This record gives sequence, C-alpha cells and structure tokens, in this order.
Amino acid sequence: MNEKVSAIICAAGKGERAGLGKNKLLAPLYGAPALYHTLKKFNIKEIGEVIVTSSETDFKEISALCKPFGYKTVLGGKTRTESVKNALEAVTGDIVLIHDGARPFVEKQLILNCIDSVKKFGSAVAAVKFTDTAAISQYGEISDYTDRENLYRIQTPQGFLTEDIKKAYRLAGDKSYTDDGAVYMRFIAPPRLVEGSENNIKLTYKNDFPREYPQVLPVSGQKIGFGVDTHAFGEGEFITLAGVKIPCGKSLIAHSDGDVIIHAVMDAYLSAAGLKDIGHYFPDTDESTLNADSAKMLEKVIETVKNAGYIGGNLSVTVQAETPRLSPYIDKMAHRLGEICKLPTENIAIAAGTCEHLGFVGEGLGITAYCAVLLKSNKEI
Ligand code: CTP
Ligand code: MG
Repeated sequence: MNEKVSAIICAAGKGERAGLGKNKLLAPLYGAPALYHTLKKFNIKEIGEVIVTSSETDFKEISALCKPFGYKTVLGGKTRTESVKNALEAVTGDIVLIHDGARPFVEKQLILNCIDSVKKFGSAVAAVKFTDTAAISQYGEISDYTDRENLYRIQTPQGFLTEDIKKAYRLAGDKSYTDDGAVYMRFIAPPRLVEGSENNIKLTYKNDFPREYPQVLPVSGQKIGFGVDTHAFGEGEFITLAGVKIPCGKSLIAHSDGDVIIHAVMDAYLSAAGLKDIGHYFPDTDESTLNADSAKMLEKVIETVKNAGYIGGNLSVTVQAETPRLSPYIDKMAHRLGEICKLPTENIAIAAGTCEHLGFVGEGLGITAYCAVLLKSNKEI
C-alpha cells in the first residue's frame, strides 16, 4: 500500500536555554536560520506534507521560511505536547513523522528508516545507545549504577500511524509529555526503536551551534555576485571568449589573453564571496599574468572562493559585441566555461547581442561582458 506520509516539525518553542534573545531556531547556522536546514531535510519525495508549529511571536518569520517549500505553518501551544496536538489536527497523511526543528542534522536515511519502521511495526522512535557508564544521582552523590545495555537516548524523528497517535494525544488530555513516544506508550503500545545517529544532536544551548562559518548569509545560504569587463579591439586574428578561440580578424588588447567573459565571471565570483576584485588578485603589473590563459586565472579564483566557503551554483553571462557573430560559438563557450568552473553546462547561460551601433561596442571598438553568479555555501549540512 502506498500510504501518504506527513511530517510535523516542532518549532514553536522559545529556545530559552540557548539564551540568544530569540527562538534559537531562527538563529543562524551555516549561513541560514537553523530551522531552514531542518525544513530542507524533509523536502524529499517520500514525504507528502509538512506541517510546522510556530509561536505567535515567530509566526511571520517561520511562515516565510516554510513558504518556498510549500509547508503549512500552524500555531503551537505552551508546551511541546500542546504544539504537537495542534499540528496533528492538520495532518492528512496515513503516517506521521514528528521531528524537532532543533535537530537540523537529521540524515535522510534516518527519516526513511523511521518511515519503514512505521510501515512494518506501526511506530518508530529514533534512539541511540548509551555509551557512557550510567548512574543515578541525587544530592550530588551517585545513589546507584544502572546497566547501560538497556539505556537509550531518545531523539526524533518519531513516527506513528496518524490514527493511533491522534488517539493517544486525545487521551493524553492536558498532561505534558517529554516526547511523542511516551504518549504512544501510555495509551497505545510500546513504540519501536529505530537506530538514531550521533550526528542528530538537538540544538539546546548556544554552544551546540557550530561556529566555524561566518553567519551573514541570506536565508537560502546563497550569495549573488556581479561582474563586468570590457576590452578594446586591436590588431590580430582571433579573440578568446569563455576559453574558446574565435576567428575575428582582430584581437582584444589586454595584459592577459583578453577573455572578457572569463574576467567578468571572475569578478562575479569574487564579489559574491565578498572578496576583492581581480585587479587585487592579478594586478596588471604582474609579469606572470602577461598574455596569461584566463581559464587558469579563473581556476585560481574558484579555489580562492572555495577556501572562503562557497561553491558555484549557476552563472548567467551576457556579452555585447557588434562583431564577430557569436551565436555559432555559444554552446561551445558554455561547455568550456562549465569545464573550468566544474559546473554542469545547464547551470551556465550565455547570451550575446549587439549594441545596435550605439556606443563604443556599437561602433565596433571593443567587447563588454557581464556576469551574474549565484554561489552556495559549501558548508551545507
Ligand atoms: N517546541 C514546540 N512547542 C513548544 C515548545 C517546544 O514546538 N511549546 C519545539 C521546539 O521549537 C523545539 C522542540 O520542540 O524544536 C524541542 O524543544 P526544546 O529543544 O526544548 O526547544 P525550546 O522549548 O524552544 O527550548 P527551551 O526549552 O530551552 O526553551
Ligand atoms: Mg523546551
């Protein structure tokens, strides 16, 4: 049977223990709000519907994060139990996975294993075995040791047949439970354990947020950059554009090989990564770049940008030239640019046009290229 799977992502807390002055889930993690990463993990074909709980305070912000994914946002309650209860009202799937927004590191395989477990056994609770020695303590003293063989740390996702968990929550009344498995166990049956993951930590305290990445990216973890370059025609036989030699009866005057497209691409990459322009990295007083192959320079730029934490997403190039006619070379240029940038050709678009005899390009004095690039954080989780 092909059951519809829904997911509830709990995000209606205050995140008080993190002490960040706002809901920890809206604090940046790898360049995007922590919750964004959790939402993204559930954007898989096996999940037919996602419902996200939010407090009134965060409703606008959380709805905006959910919108691009097509997820529904519902109001949570004062406790997690209340939040889940509210969200369950909106669930239309046969199976429901319940997950803490505060666990953005959840792996796809764990989500799939939970779905399988619900299909086979009716429930799923992600958990990891205790590895430390376990003891019970009161008043600062160990009062007893307990056998860690039977001890588990409970995580989410937790999955159930929707009908069962709805019934359990109905029977739970106003009482608060720490997790959904506890509600299921109390009113339905002992829930089935699924092996969780040590990576699947819950962001609880400030120190749970990894710090190695500048926390300034916009929502999607992507950054845009723009670059422009112009070279004048001089004497020669051919020009080089996007690494492709094109017969022209002229050349482009430059310190390097005069590849205006690649120069615009380099500036776009550097600008998106918030770095200085190509003049800084390849000054035209540098003898080593005299007549240099711009493709090699671009490879260096891509390495520099990678070290700054980004990889290329897609490139959009426009080149303006009265002559030569560039349309026969567009595909070849896009292919070559893809090779240099290590991007699939479909992520590269090159448009060419004239300037209708207007301005220096229109008068056939030179060529101008423009490039917009979208970079992605290479630290995505
Ligand atoms: N949660 C919820 N509704 C609540 C309380 C918590 O949906 N009324 C969500 C949180 O947003 C979080 C998850 O349940 O994703 C687990 O809760 P917890 O880690 O305790 O988060 P907070 O309650 O936000 O943090 P704190 O207890 O430190 O205030
Ligand atoms: Mg809490």
